[in-house]
Parts: sequence; structure tokens; C-alpha cells
Amino acid sequence: MNPEVRRAAEILRAGGLVAFPTETVYGLGADASNAKAVARLYAVKRRPAHHPVILHFDSAERAFSFSRDVPQEAKMLAKKFWPGPLTLILRRSKKRAGDFVTGGQDSVGLRVPSHPVAQELLREFGGALAAPSANRFGLVSPTTAAHVRADLGADVDLGLDGGASEVGIESTIVDLSGDAAVLLRPGGISKSSLEKIVALKEKNTASPRHSGGLEQHYAPRTPARLVPTHRLDQEISKWKDRVAVLAFSRPDERVDYWLRMPREPQGYAQKLYAALRELDGAGCALILVESPPETPDWAAIHDRLSRACAKA
Ligand code: TXA
Ligand code: MG
Repeated sequence: MNPEVRRAAEILRAGGLVAFPTETVYGLGADASNAKAVARLYAVKRRPAHHPVILHFDSAERAFSFSRDVPQEAKMLAKKFWPGPLTLILRRSKKRAGDFVTGGQDSVGLRVPSHPVAQELLREFGGALAAPSANRFGLVSPTTAAHVRADLGADVDLGLDGGASEVGIESTIVDLSGDAAVLLRPGGISKSSLEKIVALKEKNTASPRHSGGLEQHYAPRTPARLVPTHRLDQEISKWKDRVAVLAFSRPDERVDYWLRMPREPQGYAQKLYAALRELDGAGCALILVESPPETPDWAAIHDRLSRACAKA
């Protein structure tokens, strides 16, 4: 047993906050049975109290014990994708999942992450960890321990380092608390691989609240704009101020800061948040983002980019 992990579990049991790596993004964990610890978690994140958090577990059995009604689809999805980047929204067990983790809704978000450090921590802790992404509300999620330190610094009692997150964007969220399965947030697991197991409806306005559903979220501080490939050159020439560019093509010498991204979605997702952070720190007036292909395999990336670019 890693002594840092043992210390982390002790801190959590005492009501403290621990940042830990997951395969999607880093999470900021608190004991999900401790209302005071969760209140501090919300305060540190500066997150509105009515937004629910995802609960993390070491196993599907533990996760499902927080729901009063586990449909067959949930069991099948868990069997296939847990541990891994999938969150299931189920009807909550009122006794286990308090209002302070569900935002007062009748459902609860459950996830079993696969990252070995997260697994070890959850096993050692032995309960549910409420864990949103370890960044301030609305900003870009952290994919390294250094990102967490830069965002939350001394507000965290301990930060575990598990290297760069492999998936790089948040988990896919599927809501199974109603009559039909609804895809609430595209993410680490593609819609098509889920659809081999369940029929999915797109979300509508009656779907439960979730902060990733806010129009502007996952956003850098610098205004960012999504630009189709054929207009990139023209947009660059238009700007008199310093601009930064996130693109597939080669750097243009008129541009102060240029990051090249992989042409396939997994590689792109892995680098996305670190890239947005780097461009945000480049002191430019605008970030131009070359729009990726409009194919289904880029859906989760499009979702994050359109929210990151909702301001400009
Ligand atoms: O990959 C991830 O899911 C990461 C890592 C740390 O596990 N966590 C994450 O948490 O992205 P957070 O809090 O940044 O986003 C959680 C999303 C929010 O949009 C939240 O509203 C939604 O999950 N959510 C949680 N419980 C829910 C519920 N009962 N009903 C609807 N949405 C829920
Ligand atoms: Mg988040």
C-alpha cells in the first residue's frame, strides 16, 4: 500500500479534501456521507449548492447500493464499462445518498473509475467519495496534479499525483433514472459503443440539472472562438491583437502562439485541457480553435469546445 494513499484515506475519513487522479480528469474528493466535508468541497469549487456531484466507488456492488432501483441496463453497462469513464444516474437510496450530494434531486450519479491510484484510494477509504473535477466551477478541468495545484493550491488537504489523465475529458453520463436511457454528457465512452447495449435518447429540457450542461463551461479565461478550417486563415488576418491558435495544421508565422493537435479524437481529448490551459496562459486577446470534423467520433470534443468557446 502506497503510504500517500493511506494518508489520503485518513484525511478523507476525518472530513478533509483530497485531489486524486482518475482516467478522465482529476477529481476533488470528500466523504460523501459527511455533509460538512461536502459543503467545504462546494465552497472550494465555488460551485452552486443545488448542483449534484458524482459519487465514486471501488466496485459496482458498492455503487449500486446507493440506488433503490438498479435497472437491467445499468447492470449491463456497468459490466461492460466499469471500471472506466462512465457515470450512471440512477434513482437514489435516500438513506445513502443525501440531499447534499444529489442537489436535492431524486437521482444520484455513480461512477467506478479505473485509474489504479483512484482504485487504491477508494478501496482503502471503503466508502463513497463525492468528487467533482478538481478545478474552480466553470473553468477547464485538470488533467495533471500540477493543474490541480495551480487551480486549488492550499485549499486542498492533499493532492495525489497519478500522471497525466489518459482519457483527458470527463466521463460519459447516462441517465437511467427515468423511463428511457438518456445521454446527458458525451465523454470518454462513445455513444455508439453504449448503443450496442442500450437504446439512447438525446437529452431534452426535462432532463435533470447538470452543470456540464451549462452553455458556458469548461472555459478558459481568454475568449475562445471556434472557426471552421476554411475560415481560419481569414480570421487570423482579421485580428490586430495577439492571437493564439489551436489547430490541426502547421503554425502560421503571423500567429504568436500556435498549438498543433492530433487528428484523431482520443489523442485530441487527451491533450485538450492542457492545451487550453497553455493557450490561456499565453497572454493573448483571443484563442482561435480550428473546428474538428463533424463526425460522431468527435461528438464529446465538439461538446467541450462549443462550451469553451461560448463567450466569444
Ligand atoms: O469524469 C468525471 O466524471 C469527473 C471525474 C472526477 O470523475 N467528474 C466530473 O464531475 O466531471 P463534475 O462534478 O465536474 O461533473 C459532474 C456532472 C455534472 O454535470 C453534474 O451536474 C452531473 O454530473 N450529475 C451528477 N449527479 C447527477 C444527477 N443526480 N443527475 C444529473 N446530473 C448529475
Ligand atoms: Mg467539472
